[in-house]
Amino acid sequence: HSTIRTLLILGASGDLTGRLLLPGVARLIAAGRAKGLTLIGAGGSQNPQESWQQRVDRVFGAAAEGCNASGRAALAKVAKTTAYHQLDVTAEGELAALLASLTGPVAIYFALPPAVSQRACELLTAADLPAGTRLVMEKPFGSSAASAHQLNATLAALVPESHIHRVDHFLGKSTVFNILGLRFANRLLEPLWNSDHIQQVEIIFDEDLTLENRAGYYDRAGALRDMIQSHLLQIMALVAMEPPATLGEQDVRDGIATVLRASTAAPAKSRRARYTAGKIGRRKVPDYLAEAGVEAKNNTETLAEVEVSIANWRWAGVPFILRSGKSLGRSRKEAVITYKSVPHLPTGFRGTDSPTKLHIGFGPDTLQLDLDVNGPGDLFTLNRVRLEAELAGDSLLPYGEVLDGVLNGDPLLSVRGDTAELCWQIVEPTLDAWHAGKVPMEEYPAGSSGPADWPTSNDHSATRIR
Ligand code: BG6
Repeated sequence: HSTIRTLLILGASGDLTGRLLLPGVARLIAAGRAKGLTLIGAGGSQNPQESWQQRVDRVFGAAAEGCNASGRAALAKVAKTTAYHQLDVTAEGELAALLASLTGPVAIYFALPPAVSQRACELLTAADLPAGTRLVMEKPFGSSAASAHQLNATLAALVPESHIHRVDHFLGKSTVFNILGLRFANRLLEPLWNSDHIQQVEIIFDEDLTLENRAGYYDRAGALRDMIQSHLLQIMALVAMEPPATLGEQDVRDGIATVLRASTAAPAKSRRARYTAGKIGRRKVPDYLAEAGVEAKNNTETLAEVEVSIANWRWAGVPFILRSGKSLGRSRKEAVITYKSVPHLPTGFRGTDSPTKLHIGFGPDTLQLDLDVNGPGDLFTLNRVRLEAELAGDSLLPYGEVLDGVLNGDPLLSVRGDTAELCWQIVEPTLDAWHAGKVPMEEYPAGSSGPADWPTSNDHSATRIR
């Protein structure tokens, strides 16, 4: 893998850059994983040099607090040499001219809306990109299977697939390796990891965050596109994939794509809902439709659930339930594997007799295994116990991990082009059915656990087994 020394961020004055990208870059630099980096910002804001410099100084300054002398020195060096270019990426020749003025191959990070990225890349087709240029595309990658396909075709005309990094920051979470390690480094699990033994799999991402001033993007996306189309389908694929021979990008990404090719989500089994006014802790939350920038005509859902079927030998008949929502009372982020009941519980046992459950929590990463054992007290009575482990957190932050792959030339933690299109194909029938009004929009008060009969707590999930 060759190393890239120049990172150009387009959309440098945007929220994503300040909140997520720069902190990720800072961690990488501080960890010594971005030696000799030149960081360049580009965007269209007024008074750019000053505000970009302030932005970098603020984020790097915060990162420097927690690091050693060499980390601080490395951060100071990059902050001192960073530059900002004011340009319109959709104006012919502007981006190409900037690229031509830079030395060596560049990683170009498109922290821009999909339509703007599409246009900017089309304009680059005429330019001669230096060999080794890498293109980093922020999510959402396109806004439909067709637009993702078009964007893929445009990118393919510019650089080889191995130089295209489609960012899904969930792949930068240590969760990915935790799932792969858990599944494939422990003899105990894999032989039972199939439809003979597993009843259902849930991938849940319930947030207590609200709209957080993101109406401009979110009100046109909604929970299904924002979370399920991208992140949760990736996590599902890691849970469901066949054991890869290696952790090389080809083996792992082939495994992910094979699962997604076999996956469909039946619109009739989907659910959607939107939050109404309520309270999360002490915080008062307005009705979603009353949030600034939201338009009722977009009919956007803030909570979505789909049931994915994976048509292969391992998973036939096992529902994969993917759910994500905002403004819920409790944050819950985990995959839950529910095993089937034992074929025969020796007569005479009393007590719970609940299915074995494995919870894989993400961010913070945790593991929990719920088992029935004979606990204290009556010998014949079964008790539920939970074995728990806390796993190490992300030292580089998800964006740092993803950028590490970009700068060091490893696409393992990036979404491959075919996969990006597959994820749209899986959710599109549901989006169409929703658009046609075939699935009712339910409601839930902000701060609640969702619509009344929508199970969200760990213990209720047992009741959903169908
Ligand atoms: C983003 C979504 O991709 O992921 C957000 O756009 C969501 O709506 C976020 O809140 C969740 O990821 P994390 O890492 O911030 O928990």
